[in-house]
Amino acid sequence: MKKSRWSIWRVVFSVGLVVFVACSAMAVSVPDDGISTFEEWEKAFKDWNSTRSGWKPPKMAPNKLPFPTDYRDWQVLSVSHREDRASVRVVLGNDVAMRAARQKEFIPWPDGAMLVKVLWRQRRLPTWQDSWVPSEILGVGIMYKDSVQFADTLGWGFALWQTSELTLPEDFNTDVQGCVKCHAPLKDSDYVFTVPAIFP
Ligand code: HEC
Repeated sequence: MKKSRWSIWRVVFSVGLVVFVACSAMAVSVPDDGISTFEEWEKAFKDWNSTRSGWKPPKMAPNKLPFPTDYRDWQVLSVSHREDRASVRVVLGNDVAMRAARQKEFIPWPDGAMLVKVLWRQRRLPTWQDSWVPSEILGVGIMYKDSVQFADTLGWGFALWQTSELTLPEDFNTDVQGCVKCHAPLKDSDYVFTVPAIFP
């Protein structure tokens, strides 16, 4: 008799524990804005893919920088996660930039190097809550090194196409002044924040 009462308490305790763990897991559940389930991601991916055939390159930036349409084939320089902006980023480089990075000749970066940063809103991976992964596209920013053409803006041409629509900001020049202001203190690394990631 004593023994069976002990078992009941054991069951009650186990159920309580399961409920507690489940509640704790829910407390860190996915943010309800944006893509959180696999189905939502799949739908967003299909929508994106279905528009690919009619895809037109975004407008050229007023400082004569075209959108680098071939950047999807470039190589990864590094990745970052900005907590304060709730976003994940990947920085890619064109051939000139990647060669410079591999040969450790990027201070200064050679003319012709282009760095592209793609930004996505962060989301928790539905199948693994502690993993932050990309959801909506927030924009694509570029820095193109031409020390003569862009002498006035630290030797780099800056441009940012925003949202998945890849639209340019209305007041482009003010936007570029913002880029310059934040990148300007990095004189020692030729105004670039990203340090090439070491690939094994
Ligand atoms: C408030 C600061 C700030 C402003 C403003 C800013 N950036 Fe950056 N930028 C950063 C930081 C920090 C990084 C490092 C990577 C990361 O975490 O985003 C970076 C990285 C980059 C990179 C990858 C190369 C590198 O320097 O690491 C590009 C390209 C870039 N920014 C473009 C732009 C453009 C274009 C603008 C203006 C529209 C801009 N940035 C405005 C802070 C800024």
